[in-house]
Amino acid sequence: MIILGLETSCDETAASVVSVENDKITILSNIVSSQIALHAKWGGVVPNLAAREHLKNILPVINEAIEKAKKKPVDLDLIAVTNGPGLIPALLIGTTTAKTLSYLWRVPLLGIHHIEGHICANFISNKINRLKFPILALVVSGGHTQLVLMRKHLHYEIIGETVDDAVGEAFDKVARILNLGYPGGPAVAKLADSYTGEKKFQITLPRPMLKSANLNFSFSGIKTAVLYATKKNPKNLKDRKYISEMCQEFQMAVSDVLIAKTIRAAKKYSPGTILLAGGVSANKYLREKLKSSVKENLENTTCLVPELTYSMDNAAMIATAGYYRWKNLKDKKSLEKNWKNMETSASLKI
Ligand code: KG4
Ligand code: ZN
Repeated sequence: MIILGLETSCDETAASVVSVENDKITILSNIVSSQIALHAKWGGVVPNLAAREHLKNILPVINEAIEKAKKKPVDLDLIAVTNGPGLIPALLIGTTTAKTLSYLWRVPLLGIHHIEGHICANFISNKINRLKFPILALVVSGGHTQLVLMRKHLHYEIIGETVDDAVGEAFDKVARILNLGYPGGPAVAKLADSYTGEKKFQITLPRPMLKSANLNFSFSGIKTAVLYATKKNPKNLKDRKYISEMCQEFQMAVSDVLIAKTIRAAKKYSPGTILLAGGVSANKYLREKLKSSVKENLENTTCLVPELTYSMDNAAMIATAGYYRWKNLKDKKSLEKNWKNMETSASLKI
């Protein structure tokens, strides 16, 4: 079957066409139009500006995705669109476009949870053969930090989550404190990678909730520690060595907590597979450290991370999630009415 995926929950306008045969997912096109330059001067995503930009770009992006896949609207069997969570003005552009096309082209429509999409980014390519349930997903994005247990496809149990900031949000806030601009995650990661290993400033950040018995996280304290350290010695902000040492310590501190809690959860729930999902899964240090820690601590568990192309927001992951939802749906006829029935929600629950 052929699926058109659409994603507009934040600052990327994305469309992708995927083909599925015998459960094998092939990405025929994956177009992402990023708004980074537009939002950079505001230091973060401005919802109404994002919506205006999505509106400008969504039809050309869909056109390009369909043309690149060498398909026509009549070839489509399903449209899958992110219908939450996210910024409501941004989401509405994607869902309204999807509803209109579903009605016009007579193609069934499915709404997809954005985080389910991120989890399904791991199922793209052949790795699917290596999946073993239960699956434990470490979700790390700009809006979410969660440990999610999946006993089977489409069943999500949140067994731990952040009590304050999401980890991506913490990366972005630390970048702002250090004057590294937006988006913060890649900038902090780049500087952390340039750290030479010389402990010139002896920076040590806290590892909040590392020792707590539950599976929750807290990241606002690490960010505040960065703020206080720089306030104490503002001239350090001009020293590249200081910034790179701080970025490296921050990256290590958040990874230490994320990984320790994931291993703790794995010891309790014995997953066959651990997955990393969400935009922060693009972080090289976290990817490598999680893989090596799983190998070291868990004998019967494999660790998968998404390909970098599918780590950040994209529509191929939404189309992939659409396939799993569609496959498990008894009443497929109901999808034909979604052009009028589908809802859009900023705080959609998984
Ligand atoms: O999943 P995503 O693209 O959007 C949401 O669903 O929120 O995640 C975006 C987040 C941002 O906070 C961004 O700074 C962070 O992912 N991010 C990174 C890296 N690349 C993106 N954080 C750390 N290291 C990276 N390389
Ligand atoms: Zn995302």
